[in-house]
Amino acid sequence: MGMLDGKVALVTGAGSGIGRATALRFAREGARVIVADIAEGDTRSEIERAGGVAMFAQCDVSNPEQVRKAVEDTVGRFGQLDIVVANAGINGVWAPIEELEPEEWDKTLNVNLKGTYLTLHFAVPHLKERKSGSIIIVSSVNGNRTFSTAGSTAYSASKAGQVAIMKMQALELGRHRIRVNAVCPGAIHTHIEQSTKKHDTDKIGLDLIFPKGSPAINGGEGEPDDVADVCLFLASELSRHVSGVEIYVDGGQSLMR
Ligand SMILES: NC(=O)c1ccc[n+]([C@@H]2O[C@H](COP(=O)([O-])OP(=O)(O)OC[C@H]3O[C@@H](n4cnc5c(N)ncnc54)[C@H](O)[C@@H]3O)[C@@H](O)[C@H]2O)c1
Repeated sequence: MGMLDGKVALVTGAGSGIGRATALRFAREGARVIVADIAEGDTRSEIERAGGVAMFAQCDVSNPEQVRKAVEDTVGRFGQLDIVVANAGINGVWAPIEELEPEEWDKTLNVNLKGTYLTLHFAVPHLKERKSGSIIIVSSVNGNRTFSTAGSTAYSASKAGQVAIMKMQALELGRHRIRVNAVCPGAIHTHIEQSTKKHDTDKIGLDLIFPKGSPAINGGEGEPDDVADVCLFLASELSRHVSGVEIYVDGGQSLMR
């Protein structure tokens, strides 16, 4: 018996990295999974190859119409929605604030923060119908515990904003038996660097020198599966009395910064 048997889970940004690992993990535990992404990747086919059930929804999370359609298609196909992982995100442009252009700020905030709002906005009515549910927001150590990644002002602001959304919604949705939590990963080996544009971050002069040999687990570096397992805990009955918390998944590294 799987930990998520009978559940339907929508995972945004599930084409790669943390979202992909979470979608595969959930499917292995019996969930039917909607892979919502701008790019499909191999997630759906991997789930199906392993005998699971999945559907791809072409969806830019910053586009209200596309998010609405992804959620409606999910409910149309599977008849219900129980678990939502708002994971899609980009690093965006990292630069000194005077060089960070308004449209660059908008792009990062639109994908990371507005995308989280839109995902919840369209999904919550269906969770309320079920009178239960679990929402997991993938935030970051940046903007919550660490402020030392030079130039990541827009990214950090979006990640702090996600935790604020999480806490607001944990309170607002508790009476509907919907739990809302966040995971805050540290350095996880994914493709996120491909969504990073840096300019002149060296000019900022925030070159922190850390002691030799990090005391954190694995030097603070993790794999997508390390985050997926925490998402599984938050999605499952194991965390039935947990809501409104952010869990740092960084081997303890952000305690140093
Ligand atoms: N990798 C890390 O070290 C790390 C650390 C902290 C937080 N995070 C967060 O984890 C989340 C997942 O990142 P990842 O590391 O797996 O990166 P990744 O680049 O490997 O995967 C991100 C996925 O999101 C998708 N995506 C990007 N923009 C999208 C949009 N507008 N609409 C829908 N999908 C979109 C991409 O196509 C990709 O499949 C992000 O929110 C990121 O901020 C990652």
